[in-house]
Amino acid sequence: MVGYRFMGRAHSNAWRQAPRFFPLKAHVEMHTICGRDANAVQAARSQLGWQNSSTDWREIIENPLIDIVDINTPNDSHCEIAVAAVQNGKHVLCEKPLALSVKQAQTMFNAAQKSKVVHMVCHNYRRIPAIALAKKMITEGAVGRIFHYRARYAQDWLVDPDFPLNWRLDKKIAGAGANGDINTHIIDLARYLVGEFTRVCGLMHTFIPERPINEAAATIPSVFSKTPRKMGKVTVDDTSIFLGTFENGAMANLEATRMALGRKNHIEIEINGSQGSLYFDFEDMNRLKFFDNNNPPDRQGFRDILVTQRNGVHPYVSQWWPPGHILGYEHTFVHTVADFVNACVDHKPVHPTFEDGLKNQRVLEAVEESAKAGKWVKV
Ligand SMILES: NC(=O)c1ccc[n+]([C@@H]2O[C@H](COP(=O)([O-])OP(=O)(O)OC[C@H]3O[C@@H](n4cnc5c(N)ncnc54)[C@H](O)[C@@H]3O)[C@@H](O)[C@H]2O)c1
Repeated sequence: MVGYRFMGRAHSNAWRQAPRFFPLKAHVEMHTICGRDANAVQAARSQLGWQNSSTDWREIIENPLIDIVDINTPNDSHCEIAVAAVQNGKHVLCEKPLALSVKQAQTMFNAAQKSKVVHMVCHNYRRIPAIALAKKMITEGAVGRIFHYRARYAQDWLVDPDFPLNWRLDKKIAGAGANGDINTHIIDLARYLVGEFTRVCGLMHTFIPERPINEAAATIPSVFSKTPRKMGKVTVDDTSIFLGTFENGAMANLEATRMALGRKNHIEIEINGSQGSLYFDFEDMNRLKFFDNNNPPDRQGFRDILVTQRNGVHPYVSQWWPPGHILGYEHTFVHTVADFVNACVDHKPVHPTFEDGLKNQRVLEAVEESAKAGKWVKV
């Protein structure tokens, strides 16, 4: 594993838990964790349960004992690490967004295909049981022909103008702001649940273009100090909104923002079709709401499905707890890792692949191009 902070912790937990709860086709050993600071990575190694630590990711990709490389670094290093890893025959799980640009994503997909390894992007929200159930219901025709996909991913950590610059606000490292960081997730869910985008019309804005420079600031809002500091430029969007159309004729409206007070990690999705509607809210992630137009008119209404039934009734749930004993954020990563390990053993593609990451990046880039030009752009 490369990177040991937010995602490094979430993924380490997943690597530890997946073999304990899921019937994996391979034995998992957490061999080496990598970061740039020797003391910090050593501390992370011990806390997160890894056997070894390293300050050079090249040691990982060159180690013949290692089969899988899990990339949890900021976006500007995904391409270099992933390409080197697949060229060394490693299967790669890479955090989102796959890359900084379509060009980089294409390079990564080509390299992974050429090396015939298994590759996956960590869009973990696909593996929320309620989302996996929504996919199953759509595939079975429960909502009929889809007319609308409406999604909002809202956070509020940038509303405070004193929140300092960090790598997520620097285009050279992050590639984009809300667009690449969180729009990418609801674009992925759109592609998973509805289909491919054909064109988009975007609007992006940076409400607070300068912020204090504070080298020591962590990514967590509560730890920054309020003393006067030097200011630096924010080079990415705070908010990215777009309209779109899908190949199957459905229409999309998506909104990604870090400027919505009170919204911490709010992911809301509504899909409306000819037979019914689905509604999901991440803050109530064990539930899926379903309106079935085939119900008798006197008892129609959104039905509340608690997605915790075992024995194969609801996706992923059988491996966990009795009905009603709910799951959380961390389980989405455990499901991702479990599916990834089994795909590596079977040598089969596992969604979302680097090709999905590439298609996602095309949408992100089209939204950015459209927002700049003030017109519709084909994907
Ligand atoms: N799937 C999700 O929902 C989700 C959520 C948050 C972040 N992410 C993605 O995960 C990735 C990491 O984000 P984060 O929030 O964990 O960031 P973070 O800042 O918390 O951690 C980044 C880690 O990468 C390490 N690092 C940076 N450059 C390195 C290098 N050259 N070699 C080795 N280690 C290096 C840092 O030391 C740190 O441990 C990003 O691509 C981000 O977009 C995904």
